[in-house]
Amino acid sequence: MAAVDTTKVFKDNIFAGKVLLCSGGGSGICRGMTEAMVRHGAKAVIISRTYSKLEKAAQEMSAATGGEVFPVAADVRKPEQVENAVAKTIEKFGRIDYLINGAAGNFLAPFNNLSYNAFRTVIEIDLLGTFNLTKATLPHLKASKGSIINVSATLHYNGMIFQQHAGAAKAAIDALTKHWAVELGPHGIRVNGIAPGPIASTEGLSRLAGGLLEPETIPAQRVGEVDDIAQSTVFLFSQGASYITGVTLVVDGGHWLTNTSPAYPAAVLADIDSKL
Ligand code: COA
Ligand code: NAP
Repeated sequence: MAAVDTTKVFKDNIFAGKVLLCSGGGSGICRGMTEAMVRHGAKAVIISRTYSKLEKAAQEMSAATGGEVFPVAADVRKPEQVENAVAKTIEKFGRIDYLINGAAGNFLAPFNNLSYNAFRTVIEIDLLGTFNLTKATLPHLKASKGSIINVSATLHYNGMIFQQHAGAAKAAIDALTKHWAVELGPHGIRVNGIAPGPIASTEGLSRLAGGLLEPETIPAQRVGEVDDIAQSTVFLFSQGASYITGVTLVVDGGHWLTNTSPAYPAAVLADIDSKL
């Protein structure tokens, strides 16, 4: 993965003394978001299901930044594991200022090939996982007057084909961003979302587009980088965004505006279904 370049825009150490908790922070986009925060002085706890992956990522990020990154294994679908992760974060660092809900699961699936359990699984990881981790973290965010970023997507803006499970989950997450902004604002907590477009060298792009996308199809004329999401994260958590809440920031080079789902002829869809 390309190194996160946080020298471009923001001052060093704007998050000194602060603590980030990030689900999905052991890989891809959320690892980049975490590394950017740590480069700016935050300490971080990263959580996901696979401890070995988290431990390696934490060691690499600590080595690259000179900061502290601590791994905790937890499945965001399991409230008791999530509560344990929050307790370990407090034990290790004493506070939580920033929460990133980034853990997610996705795959391309035509309706015929989307089982009851497959749909439920993605809703549970993305939507319930976001609720579970936020509920467990909330007392600490109230104490610190902290801030939340929910990682969303643009799939549901125009009903992307074969993506109803992830699109439904992310649409509901966007709703939570607004509900929480309203309810938690008076507690001093800002809640925003980031909706990445296709981001190079990530599991998401590999699963949804075989890792390939023509830059010419994107208004910005390039595929997104993890660093694009990292920079937006630093901005939304910074004091510079102190009057921004309830917003989902689309970071996609204009991709969703021009990228609509194809309306496959019924015969083509029947052919796809018959091969599943
Ligand atoms: N197409 C259709 N259905 C699929 C599928 C695919 N590519 N992959 C999994 N499923 C179905 C399974 O068949 C199962 O349904 P079933 O019990 O009816 O057979 C259901 O989804 C759950 O699969 P399982 O492997 O038991 O779930 P899990 O909890 O171990 O893993 C996933 C969750 C499926 C989302 C897995 O892909 C994952 O761990 N993803 C994390 C990484 C990721 O997706 N990154 C990209 C983020 S954008
Ligand atoms: P990724 O590297 O696969 O990140 C997903 C992370 O979620 C993994 O670290 C995974 O770790 C964790 N995870 C999955 N299920 C979990 C569970 N039940 N409990 C806890 N952690 C779990 O994929 P990515 O492409 O970088 O995506 C990151 C985020 O960006 C996701 O929210 C995704 O929807 C969003 N997004 C990505 C793109 C893109 O182009 N890549 C575009 C739009 C939106 P474990 O396997 O160890 O649990």
